[in-house]
Amino acid sequence: MSRKVYIFDTTLRDGEQSPGVNLNIQEKLEIAQQLARLGVDIIEAGFPIASPGDFEAVRAIARNVKGPVIAALARISPGDIDRAWEAVKDAEQPRIHTFIATSEIHMRYKLRMTREQVLEAAVNGVKHAKKYTSDVEFSPEDGFRSDLDFLCQVVEAAIEAGATTINIPDTVGYATPDEFGKFIAEIRARVPNIDKAVLSVHCHNDLGLAVANSLAALVNGAQQVECAVNGIGERAGNTALEEVVMALYTRKAYYGFETNIKTEEIYRTSKLVSSLTGMPIQPNKAIVGRNAFAHESGIHQDGVLKERTTYEIMNPAMIGLVQNNIVLGKHSGRHAFKKRLEELGFRLTEAELDKAFIRFKNLADRKKEITDKDLEAIVEDEIRII
Ligand code: KIV
Ligand code: ZN
Repeated sequence: MSRKVYIFDTTLRDGEQSPGVNLNIQEKLEIAQQLARLGVDIIEAGFPIASPGDFEAVRAIARNVKGPVIAALARISPGDIDRAWEAVKDAEQPRIHTFIATSEIHMRYKLRMTREQVLEAAVNGVKHAKKYTSDVEFSPEDGFRSDLDFLCQVVEAAIEAGATTINIPDTVGYATPDEFGKFIAEIRARVPNIDKAVLSVHCHNDLGLAVANSLAALVNGAQQVECAVNGIGERAGNTALEEVVMALYTRKAYYGFETNIKTEEIYRTSKLVSSLTGMPIQPNKAIVGRNAFAHESGIHQDGVLKERTTYEIMNPAMIGLVQNNIVLGKHSGRHAFKKRLEELGFRLTEAELDKAFIRFKNLADRKKEITDKDLEAIVEDEIRII
C-alpha cells in the first residue's frame, strides 16, 4: 500500500528569501493560484511580520486561494504569532507555522538564550498559536545541528503544547542523506508522542543534497516535505519541488509513496515562478531545465526515435511538456502569441510583449513553424536576458 507524502510549498516564503527576488502582491497571488492547481497540500504564503507588503500578500492569498492549507510563518513571540494569525485567519484552512532555534550555536550567538528559556518559549509560543487555530506547525530552527537529546525534548514538549506538525529543518544544508535519514529515525524512536503530529523535513541545498536528504527522511518516517518550485530559497535554495515529486513519481514502485501533485502542471508552474521572480533555470536543471529532455548525441537520438525509454526515464508529457497543436507562424496575431506565452507560464509586461512579438515575426519570416522551444528562446535569451 502506498504512503501519502504531504507537499508543503514554501516558494512564496523561503523561496522569496532568494537574493534579488521581490514579488508584489499580484504576482504572489498568481503563483499561489497556480500552486493550488498544481495540487500542493500546503502553501506557506509568507512571513506577515516581515513587512506590510508580506502581510497583505498573505491576507490576499488566504482570502482568495481555495484548496490547500494556507500557512503563515511567525517567530515564537506573541507579537509575531498575532500578526501571522491576523493575515491568515480568513483562509479555508489556516495554519500558523512558528519557529525558534535549538542549536547551541544559534541559542548562544543569535538568541542569547539558555536551553531552558528556549524550551519555555517554544511551549508558550505553540500554546499561544493554538488559541487561534487547531493547525499549528512548530520548527526547531537549525534542528539538524542541534543536540539530539535537547531537540527531542523540545519536540515532545511542542507536541504536548498542541503542535500538529513538527518540522525538522536542516537550516544550513549541512546534512548528508545517510545521516539525515538516521537522524529522522532517531527522532521517531525517541519522542514518545511523535505519532500525534505529522513529521516534516525542510532541507536546504548548500551541499546540493536537499532532495536526497528529503528522500532519506521520507524513507525513515517523515511524512511532509517542505520544498520550493525550481529549488529557490535562501543561499543555494530549498528542496526542489519538481525534483522530489518526480523522484517519488518515477520511482513509485521502489519507494511506494504518493503525492497529490498533478505532475502535468509542473512545467507551467516552473516557468511562471522563473518568469515572475526573474530567476533563470539552468539549462541542465533536472526535470524543468531546457536540456532535461533534449538528446544531442546521434546514438541517443537514434535510441529515442526507436524507443523513447532507451534514454528517457520520464515522459515529458508527465510534467506538462507537450507541443501545442496550434502552430504559430507568420500569420499569427499578437493575441494568440500572448496566449501561448501565458500557457507556457510566461508573464510579460506590455513593453516586453511588444519586443517579443517583433522578434517572433522576424523569426516567423525565416521559419515556417514556431515551436514552444522557439518561444522560450525568444523570451529567455532575447527579452529577459537573465
Ligand atoms: O531553514 C529554516 O530553518 C527555515 C525555518 C523557518 C523553517 O526556513
Ligand atoms: Zn529554510
